[in-house]
Amino acid sequence: MVKKGIQRILLCGFMGCGKTSVGQALAFRLKWDFLDTDAMIEKRQGISIPEIFAQQGEEAFRKMEEETACSLGKRKNTVISTGGGFLMREQTLQALRENGGGFESVVLLDCSFETCYQRIKNSDRPLVRNNTKEQLEQIFLQRQQHYREAADVVVSNEGIVSQTVEAILKEAPVL
Ligand code: S3P
Repeated sequence: MVKKGIQRILLCGFMGCGKTSVGQALAFRLKWDFLDTDAMIEKRQGISIPEIFAQQGEEAFRKMEEETACSLGKRKNTVISTGGGFLMREQTLQALRENGGGFESVVLLDCSFETCYQRIKNSDRPLVRNNTKEQLEQIFLQRQQHYREAADVVVSNEGIVSQTVEAILKEAPVL
């Protein structure tokens, strides 16, 4: 269900679905701020995400995601790109809902597993390094329902970024 007059857009989806590139282009188009939750965590911790996973473990990283959701507060006129696991945790979702003020839309960027995999297979993302392709596909499948439950709008991002941006704007009218 699309809400009118939204003041921030959250992009979610599996690793490699294009949240950061679409988020930046969308923010530019709207003249809004752009935030990336992974970048916020790295800045706050002073180390990279692979280092956080290696030194403190995945659970500590998930807790940082929850803290990041709280720190977003009622920020307006902002496009927020989230990490692929951000919306998987009930506490993080709750923190977003409690702080969001009801003026946000969650947009799922939809891509096939194969498209995502081709984009991430050579990256240093911990989940990619620590899992086989088959295991990653299982994680992809397990997460689909969560993404779809959290999303107000589902938009394909198999093609050109500018087309995805226009599709989002059509589906999610902003002030
Ligand atoms: C993760 C996705 C990554 C990053 C971390 C964990 C995940 O973000 O948050 O490596 O659990 O799917 P991207 O989706 O931006 O790659």
